[in-house]
Amino acid sequence: MNFEFQNPTRIIFGAGNLARLGDVVGEYGKKALVVTGGGSVKRSGVFDRAVESLKAAGIAVAECSGVEPNPRITSVARGAETVRAEGCDVIVALGGGSVMDASKVISAAALYDGDPWDMILHGQENVYVPTEALPVITVPTIAATGSETNCGAVITNEETKVKSFIQIPLLYPKVAVMDPELTVSVPRDQTAYGVCDLITHLTESYLNGIDNTPIQDRLAEGVIQTAMEWGPRAIADGGDVEARAQIQWAASVALIGWAQIGTDAPYPVHMMEHTVSAYHDITHAAGLAIINPAWMRFAARSNTAKYVQFAERVFGLKAKGADDLDCALEGIDKFEAFLKSIGCPTRFSELGIGDELFETYARDTLKIVSDGKGNLPGRPVMSVEDMIGIFR
Ligand code: NZQ
Ligand code: ZN
Repeated sequence: MNFEFQNPTRIIFGAGNLARLGDVVGEYGKKALVVTGGGSVKRSGVFDRAVESLKAAGIAVAECSGVEPNPRITSVARGAETVRAEGCDVIVALGGGSVMDASKVISAAALYDGDPWDMILHGQENVYVPTEALPVITVPTIAATGSETNCGAVITNEETKVKSFIQIPLLYPKVAVMDPELTVSVPRDQTAYGVCDLITHLTESYLNGIDNTPIQDRLAEGVIQTAMEWGPRAIADGGDVEARAQIQWAASVALIGWAQIGTDAPYPVHMMEHTVSAYHDITHAAGLAIINPAWMRFAARSNTAKYVQFAERVFGLKAKGADDLDCALEGIDKFEAFLKSIGCPTRFSELGIGDELFETYARDTLKIVSDGKGNLPGRPVMSVEDMIGIFR
């Protein structure tokens, strides 16, 4: 195990912290671009409270609203243009993963004269790796991606039907103001998808990583169990701030880097899902709930011991030995049953998606990430045919 790790994002966690936003942002700038989504923060009153806090601290405000779920590069370009036109010097991302991801790319695009899409990994290369960006303060309103405390951003190019990412240390938010009260208005289905997303961030590194990462394993198992305990409570009672707080912290910890460092794990389920999302504009974790258990059943055959560990430690099953495939598969069944129980789809047919484009998704996924031999990196690597089988 070899790694170097630094996550510089300062975390301010706890109910009521939205009121501190102005003072926090004031440490980084004088005029903020506040980025928001399709209107949830306006309906809940969170936007007005955020602006009030900013103004009380003497910070001028410009706005970029209407960032889509599965955010588009066109929204990034629009936000960057507003930063330049308004002379903003700090960005406040007030919303879900889509808003936070768009904000991160806006922060670099505002200082770049070229096409912002140049920064997103596509065709296996970044045309432009940004070296400067405005400071970003994240204020997450949903527990899901962990974007608030990581340096990744996932953006869609509608024209070319490519959904891909940038992940560089420059894009770590300066501060994450995490106030779980902001998440009480998240509807039931989006709450469930958030739980599925955070768990998948952990299963990907856990199951695709190298052997002998006991600390990362225990951390992943613990966060998954915490999400499985508190997620259903937040889904049953959206106003349960304690449950909201636990899953918000779980979502952040799931992708903050601690469970991933040293594992060297690629994220094949995410890569396949992003391609499906690019074509159908589905909710990210609805796609994950469908693909992940199917992928696990495929991969358990070549990495059985790890799936047995997952079944035993997360679901309390008792295996006959480290090669007990039946136990491994039973653990996956239990995981899929959990996803169903919280309301996630587990088949494409539930989303009205047929099998017509399965080969296209597989080939497009390889255009973004490949091992150079025509396979998708993962444990094990996957050919186009393997991916089609998993989608099916
Ligand atoms: O757009 P608004 O009106 O705000 O509504 C959103 C949206 O409809 C709503 N919502 C958010 N907070 C709410 C709320 N509704 C009521 N009350 C609130 N407090 O929820 C819907 C989904 O929002 P979105 O931001 O799209 O969700 P999520 O946080 O799941 O983000 C998904 C995006 O992040 C990417 C995904 O691919 C997808 O594009 N990812 C980003 C990652 C990262 N940066 O680390 C990693 C992930 O694996 C993922 O790929
Ligand atoms: Zn995800």
